[in-house]
Amino acid sequence: MNVYDSLRMADLLAPLGYRPAETPEAADLVVLNTCHIREKAAEKVYSELGRLRALKRTRAAAGGSMTIAVAGCVAQAEGAEMLRRAPQVDMVFGPQSYHRLPELLAQVARNRAAGDGPGRGVLATDFPVESKFDHLPAAPAQGPSAFLSIQEGCDKFCTFCVVPYTRGAEYSRPVADIVAEAERLVAAGAREITLLGQNVNAYHGAAPAGGGSWRLGRLLRRLAAIEGLARLRYTTSHPRDMDDDLIAAHAELATLMPYLHLPVQSGSDAVLSAMNRRHDADAYRRVVDRLRAARPDLALSSDFIVGFPGESDADFAATLRLVTEVGYAQAYSFKYSARPGTPAAGLPDQVPEAVKAERLAALQQLLDAQQLAFNRATVGRALPVLLERRGRRPGQLVGRSPYMQAVHLPAPEDLLGTLVTAEIEAAGPNSLSARRAPDEAGAKAAAGPDRAACGAVA
Ligand code: 5AD
Ligand code: SF4
Repeated sequence: MNVYDSLRMADLLAPLGYRPAETPEAADLVVLNTCHIREKAAEKVYSELGRLRALKRTRAAAGGSMTIAVAGCVAQAEGAEMLRRAPQVDMVFGPQSYHRLPELLAQVARNRAAGDGPGRGVLATDFPVESKFDHLPAAPAQGPSAFLSIQEGCDKFCTFCVVPYTRGAEYSRPVADIVAEAERLVAAGAREITLLGQNVNAYHGAAPAGGGSWRLGRLLRRLAAIEGLARLRYTTSHPRDMDDDLIAAHAELATLMPYLHLPVQSGSDAVLSAMNRRHDADAYRRVVDRLRAARPDLALSSDFIVGFPGESDADFAATLRLVTEVGYAQAYSFKYSARPGTPAAGLPDQVPEAVKAERLAALQQLLDAQQLAFNRATVGRALPVLLERRGRRPGQLVGRSPYMQAVHLPAPEDLLGTLVTAEIEAAGPNSLSARRAPDEAGAKAAAGPDRAACGAVA
């Protein structure tokens, strides 16, 4: 989501003459787009701001100026405190205010003209009534694989999570806006679109006509009809919002990729309840079974938190059991970190750091083994791969399999942005190496035009 937001900020700044700089040293404007979800997010931002203060001083000594902005959820959570603690910061704005960036920059310039000084920083951390999406320019090209934000905020209030406070109440963009943005992305070269939302499958956007709203399954069917769009994905989902229609979409739509990030957080009913996840471990198992019945090759991913307050050895063992039963292709796991202002931060029975570290290591060992086994099981198979970028080695391109695995293979650059069939030759923990299927490579060579240009076609 932050990558998408940063791209949109760049879109907003382009008409004002801003272009991306290679380094902070070369920048007139530095925007730190921050995440507050875990760990010492605020401290990291303040230490980065310390480095930027030195740069800003050097620039000023040379007669120039630098504008420093902090965006995102740390900005939202810290607000005016950040302007007080780091007076080198010119503006602080939350995730719901970034469409106002040009106006905020103009305000910074006015304040500067009036003479910089304490209290002159610009703050925008309210939750505006208007949707920022109505004020953003049309999304420009993002390459073969593009993000599209369809939903923001969350009303679930899991007791460990800051999102409902920093991103605000759940909001779904209207279907017509999403379809228009998707069509523009495809016209600009996107073959794959990943729909984004903090709780994306709670989507309930206004229908294109006739009132009412559409849920995610229906939206996916509509988007799958866009000509030229080869792949759809969506993230991140809550198990409770996996409705029948969405599960049926996984059976129906070949465009919908067989990979789903479905966080469970814990395998213990007691912990799930204390987390206010509103489902137990068996309910999650049932959702997984239904999804796999709809799409037997579905690869699953999840998030896990270890060391939630009160988590016992038996609770943690239940998490390991769930992981063993479900089998994940990939997963993220974290030590619980108390987020200021969330209900769990005040719970008794906080788990000691050493116990959290031990549990995390055990969980990650299991998840890593599952990931490697999943990757190895694709060796010898032919998989469609969307080629997205150049690899580190000359002549090598990198793309993704339907299951989100990074696949490295030798291929000519003119295939960037296209789907090829890759024969998987080897698998590591984090990526696969492959060659193009001989038929396809041969057909392309026989077809001619790039044969001379690319004598190495196999
Ligand atoms: N501590 C640890 N992990 C957290 N997450 C969210 N809040 C916390 C927290 N306080 C994790 C969850 C979520 C992912 C995005 O970050 O696993 O799914
Ligand atoms: Fe946070 Fe996700 Fe829970 Fe919403 S559903 S409160 S975003 S963890």
